[in-house]
Amino acid sequence: MRQKIVAGNWKMNKTLEEGLTLTSELTNMAGDEVRSGVQVVLCTPFIHLAAVGKLIKSYSHFALGAQNCHQQVSGAYTGEISAPMLQSIGVNYVILGHSERRQYFNEGNDLLRQKVDQVLAHGMRPIFCCGETLEQREQGIHLDFVTNQLSESLFHLDNEAIGRVVIAYEPIWAIGTGKTASTAQAQEMHALLRKHLAGKYGQVANSISILYGGSVNAGNAKELFACPDVDGGLVGGASLKSREFTDIIKSI
Ligand code: 13P
Repeated sequence: MRQKIVAGNWKMNKTLEEGLTLTSELTNMAGDEVRSGVQVVLCTPFIHLAAVGKLIKSYSHFALGAQNCHQQVSGAYTGEISAPMLQSIGVNYVILGHSERRQYFNEGNDLLRQKVDQVLAHGMRPIFCCGETLEQREQGIHLDFVTNQLSESLFHLDNEAIGRVVIAYEPIWAIGTGKTASTAQAQEMHALLRKHLAGKYGQVANSISILYGGSVNAGNAKELFACPDVDGGLVGGASLKSREFTDIIKSI
């Protein structure tokens, strides 16, 4: 069975104190009665990681995620954070290729391929984001666009490595807009992505978790997570509220 994952992407929100309060509330509310096998990943800003990691240490279904890393191991890259640094403080997952990084920081498929390699080489799992704009969907090129994002950044990996990647489909028009993909739209894309992965990797595709992201909230999570190829969610705004994120976690 595929791993079910609910990941919260805090983006650039919360002071350290606020982040620790949120983490404590989450471990209190979702600390024990989460369905077994569900992994909850807190993708915090870099400065929160070490302290949040300590707070979640004794909760085996909680894991620590970063939101980005640099493509080089070390060197003169002022202001950047490398994969070995993240590994050294116990980070388990790293979001890569979020549409905000693609859009505001010009991250393209080639660069992301290098970042994927770094994360895997340092024993962590990429949460690789893909997704189309509204314009691309209206033009009917969204399926090709998204499968190409996977091919160009992931298809150099071997079977073992691809098995450690988590994919997050986040249609850009659904991020932060309150406009969620319908269950039919989500299922269509997720099934296509799995078929695309199977074309290259065969059976391994059935073990890869594909998360949906884009305006997931406590009201729509249950029906999205019920789609056969949706293995959980990557949640932005609603992951900043402990009650709502707990409800999302519990709806899987
Ligand atoms: P929202 O849930 O706020 O739409 O953000 C989605 C997202 O970008 C998660 O990475």
